[in-house]
Amino acid sequence: MPASPCSARAAAARLLDQVLGEGRLMSEALAQGTLDALPAADRARAQRLAMETFRGLERADRLIARHTRKPPPLPVRNVLRQAVSELAQGGEAHGVVSEAVAIVGASARHKRLSGMVNAVLRKLADEAPRVWSDLRVPRLPGWLREPLVAAWGKGAVAAMERAHLAGAPLDLTVNGDAAHWAARLGGEVLPTGSVRLREAGQVTALPGYDAGAWWVQDAAAAMAAKVLAPQPGETVLDMCAAPGGKTLQLATSGAAVTALDISARRMERVADNLARTGLSATGVVADALTYEGCYDAVLLDAPCSATGTIRRHPDLPHARDGAGIGELIGMQAAMLDHALSLLKPGGRLVFCTCSLLPDEGECQVDEVLARHADLVVDRAALDLPGIEPGWITEEGGLRLRPDYWPERGGMDGFYIACLRRG
Ligand SMILES: C[S@@+](CC[C@H](N)C(=O)[O-])C[C@H]1O[C@@H](n2cnc3c(N)ncnc32)[C@H](O)[C@@H]1O
Repeated sequence: MPASPCSARAAAARLLDQVLGEGRLMSEALAQGTLDALPAADRARAQRLAMETFRGLERADRLIARHTRKPPPLPVRNVLRQAVSELAQGGEAHGVVSEAVAIVGASARHKRLSGMVNAVLRKLADEAPRVWSDLRVPRLPGWLREPLVAAWGKGAVAAMERAHLAGAPLDLTVNGDAAHWAARLGGEVLPTGSVRLREAGQVTALPGYDAGAWWVQDAAAAMAAKVLAPQPGETVLDMCAAPGGKTLQLATSGAAVTALDISARRMERVADNLARTGLSATGVVADALTYEGCYDAVLLDAPCSATGTIRRHPDLPHARDGAGIGELIGMQAAMLDHALSLLKPGGRLVFCTCSLLPDEGECQVDEVLARHADLVVDRAALDLPGIEPGWITEEGGLRLRPDYWPERGGMDGFYIACLRRG
C-alpha cells in the first residue's frame, strides 16, 4: 500500500503485495530494500507478521470471504489478511483493527474502503481466534500440490501441509561437542547430530554465535556434507556453495575445501561465515558449468525449486507458479555431468537439492546413471546415525520430507545421493 511503509504492520502488508502481486520472494523483496527505512526491531516484526500471514493465508481468506461480497483490491485484501492473521494469533484487537484502518485510510486510492475494513475486522476480532484452528489446514497451491500428490500420495501431502503450518524450529550445526551446546542453549541433540532449539529468539544474541561455535542449518540440510564424509587431506569442491552452511561443515574435516559460487555477493556471505567460525576454504566466484579442476570429492547442492524449505519460507508457494522448474531441472542435469568430469577416478559426488519434487532428486539420479555407465550409487554412504531405513529410496538416495519427525518438529525437504565413479 504505502510506497515506503512506516510501521511493522504496514511493511508486512507491503511484503504481501510484493509476493502476491509481483511474484517476488520475500527474500528478494528484502534484498531490494523494502524494509530498509524501518528500525531493526520493526523489520524483524514485519517479517514475522508476513510469514505468519503466508502460513495461514487460506484461513484468512476464508474468514474475509464470510464478511465481504467480493474480494477487495489486492493491497486492501493484504491489509485485511495480515490483520486477521494477527487477530487469530491473539493480537490485541483494538490496536490491530485501528492500525489496519489507518493504513488503508492513508492510501489516496483506497481510503474509501477504510469503513469496510473497520466493519470486517470488528466482526473478525471475536470470530477469528475462536474458529481459526477449526478451519482446514491450508493447502498448497495446485501447481505444487498436484505433482506432490502424484509423487507421495494425498496423505503424505496433507502431513507436509501440517508441517508447513507448524513452521520450523531453529537447528544448529555445532563445530565440536553438540551435547555441550545443546545443554548450554536449552536445546536437544537430534539423532542425526544437529542441535534443535524450540525457542530461539535473536540468533546473533545466543551464546556461541560470536565465537562461531555453531551455525544455523536445518537438520536435513546438514546431512549432505555428512554423506560426503570428507577426509583430512582430501581435495573437496563445494560447487554451489553460498551462503556456505555446507562449506563450513566440509571445512571442519581437515580437507582442502574449494567453495565456488556464481554470485560474488553471495560469496561474501561464505567469507563472513568462514571468518566468524575461524574455518578456512578457498573461495572462487565462477560458473560451475565451465569451472575446471580435479577433486577427490564434489558436493553439488544444485539450484532448485526450494520446495523443501516452505516451513521456513511460507511465501514461496505463493510467489511462484512452477514456471522455470523445467529450466532448473536442465541446469541440474548439466551441473551433474560437469561435476562428474571434475572427479578423480574413484572420486565421489554428492548431489542434493532442497526440493520435494522427484524430478529434482530421484529422477536426476536415475537419469545420470543411465548417461554414465561407470557410475554407481554408494548406498553405504547413507549408513549414518539417525538415518531411518524408510528414508532410503529405490535408487539408493536419501529422501527427507517436512512431515518426517513430526513429534520432534519436522525437518526441511531434501534429496541427497552419493555417486561414485568407477
Ligand atoms: C541451494 S543454493 C546453495 C546453498 C549452499 N550449498 C549452502 O549450503 O549454504 C544454490 C547456489 O547455487 C548458486 N548457483 C546458481 N547457478 C550457479 C552456477 N552456474 N555456478 C555456480 N553457482 C551457481 C547460487 O548462487 C546459489 O548460491
